[in-house]
Amino acid sequence: MSSRDQFASKIGFILAAAGSAIGLGAIWKFPYMAGTNGGSVFILLFILCTVIIGLPILIAEFMIGRRGQLDPIHSFKKQAPGTPWFMIGWIGLIACGLILSFYSVVGGWILSYLTRALTFSLTGQSLDFATLFTDIISNPWEIILSQAAFMLITLLIVQAGIKRGIEVASKWMMPLLFLFFILLFIRSITLDGAMAGIEFMFVPDWSYLNAETLLLALGQAFFSLSVGVAAMITYASYLSPKEQIAGSASNVAVMNIAISILAGLVIFPAVFALGYSPEQGPGLAFIMIPAVFEQLPMGGFFLIIFFILLLFATTTSAIALLEVVVAIGIGRKTEGRKKASWLFAAIIFILGVPSALSFGLLSDVTILDRSIFDFVDYITSSFMMPIGALFTSLFVGYYYTKDISRSELNTSPVIYHIWLNIVRYLAPLAIIIILIRSAF
Ligand code: PHE
Repeated sequence: MSSRDQFASKIGFILAAAGSAIGLGAIWKFPYMAGTNGGSVFILLFILCTVIIGLPILIAEFMIGRRGQLDPIHSFKKQAPGTPWFMIGWIGLIACGLILSFYSVVGGWILSYLTRALTFSLTGQSLDFATLFTDIISNPWEIILSQAAFMLITLLIVQAGIKRGIEVASKWMMPLLFLFFILLFIRSITLDGAMAGIEFMFVPDWSYLNAETLLLALGQAFFSLSVGVAAMITYASYLSPKEQIAGSASNVAVMNIAISILAGLVIFPAVFALGYSPEQGPGLAFIMIPAVFEQLPMGGFFLIIFFILLLFATTTSAIALLEVVVAIGIGRKTEGRKKASWLFAAIIFILGVPSALSFGLLSDVTILDRSIFDFVDYITSSFMMPIGALFTSLFVGYYYTKDISRSELNTSPVIYHIWLNIVRYLAPLAIIIILIRSAF
């Protein structure tokens, strides 16, 4: 497979995998999910789900991808010929397409905010940021145009291929983003009344401890780690066969938890100090971040840089989503990447239009009591991802012989045994119980 693209370096792979993981999941979705599900308890469950279930499955996906060296469907067909395991690749394909359909809507919101930030129309005039958010996302033309622009950026990077596109884009943005969050955290925590936000995040209100919160936390852990939808299988298929994977996976998980908590630490102190409600839903980050910047000297200028960084973090995740679909679309061929990128990006864009409009024109349409946007998010994060993750862990736990998984993981016997027991028993059981409990 020497003609297939590969990552140029190990650090490039870790950053690309981290880039795929860290995105709207940590910065946009985590705070609003925590905000509407009781704060501390959700955060605690999210961390537990990430470490105990998400990380071992992330390791499993790295294994499958590196061993297969092909797109997810062919990777399974090659490793388990004549069996239905390749269906995991199909779940991934459909889930990634659906996730990208609403992900690109939020990517569009970022572009809309960025264009406003560039004209300094977000700061210095004591705006009501909650009303502003509603105005922006309910304007059909602006929102669809921004969504299309976001898809175009994503597809241009994917079309350039693994090394030139994805790796280079990931290398620069993560550290800068981290720095900005620390700066924002300092401003947010020094506002009057900020402590209520810290309490909201860390003092548990146990009344929120139930199966539904657990399912949402599990879904959030999978969503923000990018597991269960073959995305990490796809990335790892471009990894050269002799890299250490347990360490890389742990790095990704730790960075992801750190950015999530940091996003919470920026947003919640400000929510309480500035008199907003934590239950704003999907608008939370878009409302609070400009509100915190307004409290900073040169806030308007920093806000521009921040939205550019957020756009990059979001794009590095979106390219992973599109990459899964494109990789499967071109399969074993080495040409056709360009055509496939345009074709699938166009389909996914059209698929996302109803989600984009569900905050305005289509706001009356609900499916199972959820808006179209929420519904697509809910079935992908809370059902498709856990189901994909379940089969992924069964595959490495039972289809791989112990000899294979031991030599693939290539780590100490203790860690290997903990990992094996999780993918064989704990993760499948936990996922099944949580799925069943939440269905009734
Ligand atoms: N993990 C990404 C985020 O948090 C979303 C994602 C999910 C990307 C699945 C790829 C695959 O923003």
